[in-house]
Amino acid sequence: KKIKDQVLVIFGASGDLTYRKLVPALFDLYKQKSLPDNFVVLGVARSSFTDESFKEKMIDGIRQFSISKDAPEKEVNTFAEKLFYLSINTDDGTEYSKLTSRLNEFDSEKGTDGNYLFYLSTPPNLYPLIPKFLAQEGLNESKGKIRRIVIEKPFGTDLKSAVELNKSLLNDYEEHQIYRMDHYLGKETVQNLLVTRFSNSIYEPLWNRNYIHHVEITAAESIGVENRGGYYDHSGAMRDMIQNHLFQLLALVAMEPPTVIESDAIRNEKLKVFQALRPLSHVDIQNNVIRGQYTAANVKRVPQKGYREEKGVDPNSRTETYVAMKMFIDNWRWGGVPFYVRTGKHLPTRVSEIVIHFKPTPLNLFVDNKEYCSDGNVLVIRIHPDEGILLKTGMKVPGNGYKVKEVNMDFHYSQLQDTYVPGAYERLLLDAMLGDSTLYTRGDALEFAWKFVQPILDYWETNPNAPLYGYPCGSWGPECADGLIEGENMTWRYPCKNLSDDGI
Ligand code: BG6
Repeated sequence: KKIKDQVLVIFGASGDLTYRKLVPALFDLYKQKSLPDNFVVLGVARSSFTDESFKEKMIDGIRQFSISKDAPEKEVNTFAEKLFYLSINTDDGTEYSKLTSRLNEFDSEKGTDGNYLFYLSTPPNLYPLIPKFLAQEGLNESKGKIRRIVIEKPFGTDLKSAVELNKSLLNDYEEHQIYRMDHYLGKETVQNLLVTRFSNSIYEPLWNRNYIHHVEITAAESIGVENRGGYYDHSGAMRDMIQNHLFQLLALVAMEPPTVIESDAIRNEKLKVFQALRPLSHVDIQNNVIRGQYTAANVKRVPQKGYREEKGVDPNSRTETYVAMKMFIDNWRWGGVPFYVRTGKHLPTRVSEIVIHFKPTPLNLFVDNKEYCSDGNVLVIRIHPDEGILLKTGMKVPGNGYKVKEVNMDFHYSQLQDTYVPGAYERLLLDAMLGDSTLYTRGDALEFAWKFVQPILDYWETNPNAPLYGYPCGSWGPECADGLIEGENMTWRYPCKNLSDDGI
């Protein structure tokens, strides 16, 4: 499909996301020759950049963060000619006529043909306002032209605000014009989940309660909140990672096969997963949801601050930087199979992975073999880093008797030589320009995801003494999280050791 000529308007263009992710990804698209011939990026924000100073800053971002950061200067400069800047007060509706005039200029001078993609990367309080002001200018009406809005996360801070935001957007836009961003969906390996599950005949027959013992989904980060304490302290891991990124992974693992690989077919199946999540009672929350907060510790001999000492964080904060939880999907495929989901900051390593634990054989014939633990085969889908897929199986050790050893059948994306792996933002920006919303979340599914986590947020809010476990930076989070996993000798997969003891 060919991308139409268009203007990409980025609101919040003076911010970090534009500098680190969006413009570098656009440059990568340019390098791949994926951008249309007539294409303009208009950065909009309050800060007083000129076209030239905006370009300079963006070139600096490309040089640091783009996949093609070493591209020749000439190429970077030619791309930068597509970048422009408009300074307006984005919370003042009367200023939007300046935007309309600028867009009209591009249409007549740059051939962008009245096609506009608006990308909202502003503080979330502007998410309901900007689309409204655009609509007041008539910029929401497509009349055969591209009029789309991309909204960065967080989409709401709770169920109520997400419902209100959806409602307010749908007053002026059709659902097909709204692109709700979840950058996890842009990751190659996340898309590969669909291909792994639905292009191989061997997985699907096993992908259910009859053969799967439990599923683990982990997104661990080795960094803390860095300079985002102010935002994070009002968010926490449940809102920042679980409700969106991890639930998207959960939906892709658990969904039924769609009838076609098309946006609504896939999104309908994902919605059904969210609808089937078993609601958590207070007792479930007490027993099956564990929250933690990192505390000061040395990691590889380097002292790390505790969360409450971070800039922008309340010194008495009870915001969680770690969550581990157990949940069930009440449908025929998954009845009784626990799904364990965990995420945290300042854990020993950065890793996102999905681990499918198959049931053990009905009878262990190799009981004498102390070295082999026949807890069942394990399939690890590594989202990052080292994207790939790993199957653990038992094999005979050559020699007398039947000594069994667990071995890895391991595929790494990096083995696909000469394959260009696009970044998540690159893929998602391209899809929004093309008008393909498959990798964007739909309003109804997002509301169901909020509906599931809302009782947990409410419970924490109204029970300030509900346990919040401290865990040292560089450890795998509160030890009690191990107890969540049902089954003898069962625990989370730990891709590397704790780092919080000096010397490791
Ligand atoms: C963002 C969260 O959405 O995702 C961050 O706000 C988090 O807190 C980030 O660090 C993780 O993304 P990735 O792609 O590095 O796993």
